[in-house]
Amino acid sequence: MSLLKCENVESGYGKLPILHGVNLRVAEGEMIALLGANGAGKSTLMKTIAGILPLMKGSMVFDGRDITLLKNHALAKMGLGYVPQENNVFADLTVAENLEMGAFTIKNAKQAIEAIFERFPKLKERYKQKAGTLSGGERQLLAVGSALLLKPRLLILDEPTSGLSPQATESMIETISRIRDDGTAVIWVVEESPKEVLAHVDRVYLLESGLVKKEGTGREFLEDEEEFETLFLGHNVG
Ligand SMILES: Nc1ncnc2c1ncn2[C@@H]1O[C@H](COP(=O)(O)OP(=O)(O)O)[C@@H](O)[C@H]1O
Ligand SMILES: [Mg+2]
Repeated sequence: MSLLKCENVESGYGKLPILHGVNLRVAEGEMIALLGANGAGKSTLMKTIAGILPLMKGSMVFDGRDITLLKNHALAKMGLGYVPQENNVFADLTVAENLEMGAFTIKNAKQAIEAIFERFPKLKERYKQKAGTLSGGERQLLAVGSALLLKPRLLILDEPTSGLSPQATESMIETISRIRDDGTAVIWVVEESPKEVLAHVDRVYLLESGLVKKEGTGREFLEDEEEFETLFLGHNVG
């Protein structure tokens, strides 16, 4: 059974549809990469799944339950974690305060935050520092750490390595792979360095103009070098 199943998803902004019938599945514990050029609709799809944008048509099922009408907070409680592409931390709050905000609805908030600090010692070192003054990599780590507080079964990461140095990118790829190894399913939106990421994922969806243009295993995408280059012509192939 799929953990997440999206069927014929249409959504967009105002009355303007951006997604024109997207089908996507994620199995329990599976790691998916979502590729596509800038403007293809990747973030729109993630916002729709996370309950930030309403569905225009189609259906979504998560963990056996129809989530078509559910909003972000209800979905987070159900175990659907979402790290947006932008503004994913509170820049004016410290690392500790960011995590406290994330743990706001949890009973054992203190314990949950301590577990995140244990998992990411870099965050503990910086606990008093304002999030806005962190490096790009540390900020992404904080965003991911905040999402992990609720122990999601599916974690959506919208371009978690965007704008990071090669070293920070590598470290983030390792962090995400470990989250998957611990049993959390992941949807990983990738625009930069797709090749490095594809080696780590189970399956790949390529989005183009609001539709799934191609889907396959990470290996299938990597093997077809020529097509891969064409797909990412003009983009950083990595
Ligand atoms: N808040 C918004 N209001 C109106 N149009 C938007 C908004 N956000 C994105 N779009 C449009 O939706 C399309 C898809 O954007 P997006 O999902 O962000 O693409 P991607 O994440 O693949 O780069 C683009 O044409 C973009 O201009
Ligand atoms: Mg985007």
